[in-house]
Amino acid sequence: MELVRATEAAAIRAVPFIGRGDKNAADKAAVDAMRKFLGTVNFDGVVVIGEGEKDKAPMLYNGEHVGNGRGPACDIAVDPIDGTSLTAAGRQNALSMIAVSDRGSMLDASTVFYMNKIVAGAEGIGVLDIRKSIGENIRALAAAKNKPVSEMQIAVLDRPRHVQLVEEIRAAGAGTRMLLDGDVAGGINAARPETRIDMCVGVGGSPEGVVTACAIKALGGFIQTMLMPQNDEQRANGEAAGLLFDHVYEANDLVKSDNTYFVATGVTDGGLVEGVRRLGPIIRTESIVLRGRSGTVRRVVAEHLAEKWLDEDSLLERV
Ligand code: FBP
Repeated sequence: MELVRATEAAAIRAVPFIGRGDKNAADKAAVDAMRKFLGTVNFDGVVVIGEGEKDKAPMLYNGEHVGNGRGPACDIAVDPIDGTSLTAAGRQNALSMIAVSDRGSMLDASTVFYMNKIVAGAEGIGVLDIRKSIGENIRALAAAKNKPVSEMQIAVLDRPRHVQLVEEIRAAGAGTRMLLDGDVAGGINAARPETRIDMCVGVGGSPEGVVTACAIKALGGFIQTMLMPQNDEQRANGEAAGLLFDHVYEANDLVKSDNTYFVATGVTDGGLVEGVRRLGPIIRTESIVLRGRSGTVRRVVAEHLAEKWLDEDSLLERV
């Protein structure tokens, strides 16, 4: 639960940059705030999935130690803003997120920037297979969910690389939910029963794939991924790091432990959580906290006194 303070801080600090057109500045503000607050949390964390490998963004870099060093030894994946472009444009669905699991349990896929992913709820277990065609998978999941294919909604990142995938989804008779960004939220929504998304598919960031796996373990859902090196350098670096390219990485390959936590706070409003709100003297944040071991999903609405956020250093002294 302490971790949520770090995503809340990152989300609040990103607010001045919403709709200002500068995604790096938004990211930097969120990274700085998250890093500072993580320093107050009772754990001995090592960043396995940092911010900046792909985007060369300001970092919580891979291998950096975070936390006050006094608690359990953990791996940590951070994404101070998933949806930096969404934030800069003032669009919906930007989140700040952290995933934590036991030390040594998270797959370090930092050498290969992209993964093909397929994420769904528990009905997908034993039914979906990333090596099958999307049409086959849609029909199999529809049958498992006992709903017509025509009612199936498939989330896909809106990217040129997905033109054919989108055509195949529609040819199979299902509908698409095109995501401007943010396939972690897309995956979580696919695994939650109360949303209208049945499956999230396509190629997205590898770090986001591991983060999604931490959330999916808590939700009891389904995830399979395959690494997609973009060039010879990534393939060579990936091989040197022991990564496999013809291998299907399942939830337990992405995160070996069941002792996972996933925390996300809304930066801008979205389907998963609301964004940061200013209500007079109060700043309100909404977060979701997923705990793998117990399968608990918590929603945390916090009201922060805005005046205390004027001076972050003194705020940190008080926490
Ligand atoms: P950033 O906020 O770091 O830009 O990530 C957003 C995101 O949409 C992820 O959710 C997704 O996995 C990845 O980017 C996809 O990468 P790309 O934008 O290069 O297609």
